[in-house]
This record gives sequence, structure tokens and C-alpha cells, in this order.
Amino acid sequence: MEKTDQKQQEYLSLLKDMVKKRTAEKNTPPTYFIFTMGCQMNARDSEKLSGILTKAGMTEGMDEKADLVIYNTCTVRENANEKLYGHLGAVKSMMEDNPDKIIAICGCMMQEADESRRIRDRYPFVNLVFGTHNLWKFPELLYTCIHEEKRIFETPETSDYSDDALPVKRKYVFKSGVNIMYGCDNFCSYCIVPYVRGRERSRRPEDILNEIRSLSGSGVKEVMLLGQNVNSYGRKLSDPVSFAELLEQVCAVDGIQRVRFMTSHPKDLSDDLIRVMQKELKICHHLHLPLQSGSDRILQKMNRHYTKEGYLSLTDKIKNAIPDMALSTDIIVGFPGETEEDFQETLDVVRKVGFQAAFTFIYSKRTGTPAAAMPDQVPPEVIANRFKRLLSLVQELSSRSAGNDLNRVLPVLVEGEDEHREGYLTGRLGNNLMVHFPGRPEEIGNIENIRLTESKGFYYNGIKE
Ligand code: 5AD
Ligand code: SF4
Repeated sequence: MEKTDQKQQEYLSLLKDMVKKRTAEKNTPPTYFIFTMGCQMNARDSEKLSGILTKAGMTEGMDEKADLVIYNTCTVRENANEKLYGHLGAVKSMMEDNPDKIIAICGCMMQEADESRRIRDRYPFVNLVFGTHNLWKFPELLYTCIHEEKRIFETPETSDYSDDALPVKRKYVFKSGVNIMYGCDNFCSYCIVPYVRGRERSRRPEDILNEIRSLSGSGVKEVMLLGQNVNSYGRKLSDPVSFAELLEQVCAVDGIQRVRFMTSHPKDLSDDLIRVMQKELKICHHLHLPLQSGSDRILQKMNRHYTKEGYLSLTDKIKNAIPDMALSTDIIVGFPGETEEDFQETLDVVRKVGFQAAFTFIYSKRTGTPAAAMPDQVPPEVIANRFKRLLSLVQELSSRSAGNDLNRVLPVLVEGEDEHREGYLTGRLGNNLMVHFPGRPEEIGNIENIRLTESKGFYYNGIKE
């Protein structure tokens, strides 16, 4: 890990020269637009692509009319794939107005051989396809594609190089995601991530800490440590370090005021982690702990390695240690073989835990995963009915628990202007809920004490103290 390919610096210089020439010809720099789908990992990857393009001298466009359009794709569920094809249909018509337009596609969906082949064969206007393992090579791929006027399709399954040293253009100046590990070894039976993101690899703590120190130096107050399963961080390093230890070291970085992380797998959440969360004041009281199902039978078929009882005793332990901890979760409805009784077990956990937020998903069959070949796929109308019932329970319970902090004064990291009300700002509590309050744009990036005056179910209105 962390091995950088120095050749890419040379390609970046070549790209810069090319952009300069184009800028002189057209009297304006070429624009780029990155359409990001999926999770925080993809969002972070897009910031790296954006960093390279900015260094090359391009400017960020507003939409898909830009000269270079990159789709950073997700494939966790089928509807993510459909979204890409919808966009490709629309962007094709824009090629006529801009014959030099470059279309690139990257991300998880391109790691599926069938999908990248389909793009190659049926979408001839797509110029460049790369994957999740060769982001580090983006300067070379883009330069070669434009300079040699040829289509490039490169989606290797692994790589010796890392993209950790790429320049980054952050979406926010005051907060940033930080990759602490890549890939996943869990092979939950429904999930395609281990196939498209590869085996679990942890970054070395000193590299992570250096990155965070440098972020802090450039004004970042909040970091979000990113990994598919942060709780198994560091076990395979030559000098093993636990996630709890890493968190303590991150909290010791001057200037960082808030630390978040995601995602936690319930099977690996240690007592040490709970102790560190209790002790370190910088760690936000929010934990994303995917449940997926409340039925032991289904959990076993999902290869999740915990039971309903185990999940409930873990959430009890966390709440006893840190009473104001906000828990959020992911739940899949309609996994193969799920019966009404299984589904009732899921509803039971939802009632017992009282999640602040639950992201609910309809099971999506992913080719190549063990679950795709399982018998008893649940009929769509049964799934739709269960999904509706789960959603209404989740909404009822989360809006009830959202009022818990009413009238309290709590620190809020101001993230931006409220898009719906002039003169208002929007920010985030430690527990991840949003707060809207009157204020001036100069306050964006500050941590302000806000009195929560009104609960709106999934957000608050407030005023500055
Ligand atoms: N179908 C539906 N939901 C899925 N997820 C992952 N794979 C699938 C699938 N095949 C959900 C899980 C995971 C979240 C990121 O996406 O709930 O936690
Ligand atoms: Fe997918 Fe399971 Fe890994 Fe999460 S832990 S990325 S659900 S295989």
C-alpha cells in the first residue's frame, strides 16, 4: 500500500500542457463534471479525480454539458446500474453540440466484466472506462485517451499501487473523508462489494495520521474515517493495530474537533471501541451498525455471523455505556427465503432498538453472489408490502426519537446555507441530525452552540445561543 507511481506526475504535466493549449485555442479552460453515485467511498474517489483535473487546469462545470463527463458508478443494487444507463442515454444527445466531448466511466460497476463489455460494445461514444483499482493511473489513462484519440478500457482486478497520494479537491473545506482501508473480506451472501472492491487492505496508521495532520493544517475540523468494515481495521498489518487504537491516535491530532467513522460490522465491534468512544470527547455519538435482518435463520443465510440476540445485547451494551448514542442501520427486505415470521423478527429489533435512522433496501439479486442462486426468491408484491410496513414503522419511531434533544443547546458544525430559506444556515449535530437556524454565510465551517427550539422529525430548527 501507499506505493505511488511517479510516472503519473509526468502524465499530469502532459495533461497540463494539453489543457493550456486548449484553453488558448478556445479562450476558456475546458470544463469537467463528475456524477457520483453510491457511497462515501465513491464520493472520496471523486474528490481525487477532481483534484487531478483541477491541477491539470480544468474548471468544474455545472452539469453533463461539460467537456469531460465522468460517471463514478455504484453496483450494490440493480437500480444503481439502471441509473447509469439512463444518464448515458441522455448524454449521448449532447455529443452533437460538442464533438470533442469526452465521456468516462469508473467505479464499482465497471469492475463487473459483463457491464464494461456492454459499454464497450453498445456505447461507442464512451471514450474511457477504468475501475476501482486503477484510480492512481487516471492522469495517464485520460492523457492517452485524448492524445492518441483512442478508446481505453482498463479494469484490473488488483493493483500494487495506491491512489492515496493523489491531489484532492475537497467538496467541503471544513470536513473530509479519510480512507483507512479498502475492500472487504466478509462476503455477506447478497453483497457484490467484495467482488468489485477486492480483498480488505488497511492503510498504515502513520500514513493515515499524516493525512489527517495535513487536513487539519488546511482547516479541516471533522474527519470521517472510511472503510467497509472499520472494526476489522489493522488486523492484517505487519504491525497490527486495532481500530480502537487508531481512533485514539486520530483524536490526538491538534485541530481536529470531531471524529466520525463508518461502517461498523456488528460481529467485530469490540469493548475496547466502546471504551474509546466513551472516553474520547471528539468522537461523535453516532454509530452506523447495519442489522440487515432480525431473523437468525436469515442472518445465517446472509453469512453475517451474529444473531438477533447478539445484535440486541450489543446495542444494549453501547447504550448503557453511552446513553445519548444515536444508532442508525441498514435493513434488507425480501432476502431469498424470508418468511413473514422472519420479517416480524426484523420489525421486533426495529421496535426494541429505536434507531435514529434506518436505511431500508429491497433485496436486489447480484449476479455471482451466493444469494443469487438461492431458492425461494420472494415475490415482488410480497416484498413491496413488507417494505411499506417496515418504512412506516421506521419513520414513526425515528421521528419520535428525534425530539429527544428539544430545548437543549448543542454544538453544530455549520455546513452551508439553507437552500430553502434565505438568511438561514444548515449544520449537523454530533448525532448526525441536521439543524436549521438563522445566520450568515461567514459562519460556514464554524462549530456554533445552537438551542434546538423545534423538532421536525428528522431535523431541528434552532437559534444561536
Ligand atoms: N440488495 C439490497 N441491499 C443490499 N445492500 C448490499 N447489497 C444489497 C443487495 N444485494 C445494502 C446493505 C448494505 C448497504 C450498503 O446496501 O444493507 O449495508
Ligand atoms: Fe458487503 Fe458485507 Fe462487506 Fe458490507 S460487510 S461491504 S455488506 S460483504
